[in-house]
Amino acid sequence: ALEQKAFGLELRYYSGRVLIEAVSPKIFRFRLTAKSEWEEKISDAVILKPGADFKLERKLDRLIISTSHLRVIIPEGEFRFEIYDQEGRLLSQDFPGAGVRFASGEFQLHRYIFPEEEFYGLGDKYSFLNRRGRLWTFWNLDVGWKQYKRDPRYSSIPFLISLRQELAVGWFFDHPGWLQLDLGRRFSSLFSIYGKGEELDFYFLYGPSLRDLIQLYAQLVGTSYLPPLWALGYHQSRYSYFTQKKIEELGEEFEKNQLPLSAIHLDIHYMEKFKVFTVDKARFPDLKGLSKKLKEKGIYLVAIVDPGLKVSKNYSPYLRARENKILCADEKEEEYQARLWPGRCAFPDFFQKSAQEFWAEEHKFLFEQGIEGIWNDMNEPSFWKSELRFKDLVIPLRGEENPKMYHRINNKKVAHSYCRNLYGQKQAQATVLAFKKFKPGKRHFILSRSGFAGIQRYAGVWTGDNLSRFEYLSGSISQIISLGLCGVSFCGADIGGFALNCSSELFARWIELGAFYPFCRNHTAIKTRAQEPYQFGEEVLNIARKYLKLRYRFMPTLYSLFWLTHKTGLPIWRPLFLEFPTDPQARKIEDQVLIGDSLLLAPVVEKKARRRRIYLPEGLSLIHI
Ligand code: GLC
Repeated sequence: ALEQKAFGLELRYYSGRVLIEAVSPKIFRFRLTAKSEWEEKISDAVILKPGADFKLERKLDRLIISTSHLRVIIPEGEFRFEIYDQEGRLLSQDFPGAGVRFASGEFQLHRYIFPEEEFYGLGDKYSFLNRRGRLWTFWNLDVGWKQYKRDPRYSSIPFLISLRQELAVGWFFDHPGWLQLDLGRRFSSLFSIYGKGEELDFYFLYGPSLRDLIQLYAQLVGTSYLPPLWALGYHQSRYSYFTQKKIEELGEEFEKNQLPLSAIHLDIHYMEKFKVFTVDKARFPDLKGLSKKLKEKGIYLVAIVDPGLKVSKNYSPYLRARENKILCADEKEEEYQARLWPGRCAFPDFFQKSAQEFWAEEHKFLFEQGIEGIWNDMNEPSFWKSELRFKDLVIPLRGEENPKMYHRINNKKVAHSYCRNLYGQKQAQATVLAFKKFKPGKRHFILSRSGFAGIQRYAGVWTGDNLSRFEYLSGSISQIISLGLCGVSFCGADIGGFALNCSSELFARWIELGAFYPFCRNHTAIKTRAQEPYQFGEEVLNIARKYLKLRYRFMPTLYSLFWLTHKTGLPIWRPLFLEFPTDPQARKIEDQVLIGDSLLLAPVVEKKARRRRIYLPEGLSLIHI
């Protein structure tokens, strides 16, 4: 049966229903369910409401729904579809013999891959930019440095770009539960989508140029928020600067060494036994005084805030959360508890408005201490079964990757597995609310490890616990480029690497590149060697100073690029093929990056290398700095 709707049509099949909507002349939405009713949406990633003119034609054996740019053809029988543009080019077709399948809380959809098709996007994946030939999973996970290359990863951005020569189309899967995309691993011409949940909701986007496609996706899920200017400067961090004194010395060292510095991050040891919204008074006797003094020098303090609240009857944020009934539940409707830095914790259900308000309110304490930025970590969320503790050192053991946790969304109990990939984003939303409440009219700085499509509306992200090895330096280029293609321009990798000791040579190379990361932070793990730019001798210090000063000189351009991405969604870091779409060679270059449309960066990212080859697309020329 067919029912015409305001912006499309609904088709009813024996096994379920399908809603097809013309969101814009270049975007079709497909929503499929095996249920008899539509559920209220969990994901709020999409901000564009359907609203395009469309035409519906009924033929004997098929239906055609079209806009000024696209034609979707749906044959009689079980649900299938083909998409053409108005020039008659076939853009997407079913995989022969395989359609949509829904069965007991899981779904599958199969499409055909064209021989010349290349795939890009999918946010932060540790791989080559072209995603074809592999299986990709979306399930936010605390990857950790020991398995840093693994997939799935900290964040999930299921925006897939398909390129056939210059023809660009995209798929966005608005699915915050477990999702997997097989891009030709099983068969080179088979693109399969597997998901857990009762429905599949996805968007098909038509460029037809890559440049237009990226901007179209930005209209769908929103562009990057604008951070304050100081957040574009250099951030110094480590796990952890243990005392107030240490932080004071840090500020002095930077000054003495004539290194610019805009922010210092306080990792978990600033808190009393890792309890969020507390300060360890013994270690930080006057945090307020410290932040004031630093601010006078243009240095802002950023504090880490993890989602877990320690379960304890002496800890008031937890008691308040309990009282407000905003904690996540387990299958028996009791408080869900898991382990994290402070020990046994309970977790705010950020999907509830009241939980967001509660969380925002708790930030008052930190802002009163002069904290200017919030760093949200462990928000996949990460849960441990146990850990080892030696004084300041905590070693997590065995993660819980499929927690039996429940949320209340739209007044219904929803299993965590249906919405996990949105949890960190919901925490970021709550943190934005905190800034709105306590710092009205001011731009905020939030850094988040986890996220879903649209995280750029609330926070910047970093790529998690990388390693102090050359391959992770070069690997960061494609991670950051890919995040940018997917709307997340405000991002960076830990400069110098997080785990293991960084060598002088590696640090020099990393700061040369990192000085151009949209988000520029040096960070390292507990027990690694000191990693501030002045810890590697005179030569490296001079290099670091030169490049960091260059970043600050470059700031007006960088700032304008932030503005541009905020307005249009065009990325700050760009792959060569975005600006040179007709150059086949440009597709293969993954160790160079364009900043904006005209500055080409070709960093040295190989150990012992003293020179490198540069690919100069036509029209670019060389300047040496
Ligand atoms: C996680 C974070 C890292 C942080 C550490 C301690 O490993 O990814 O950046 O330093 O936790 O808070």
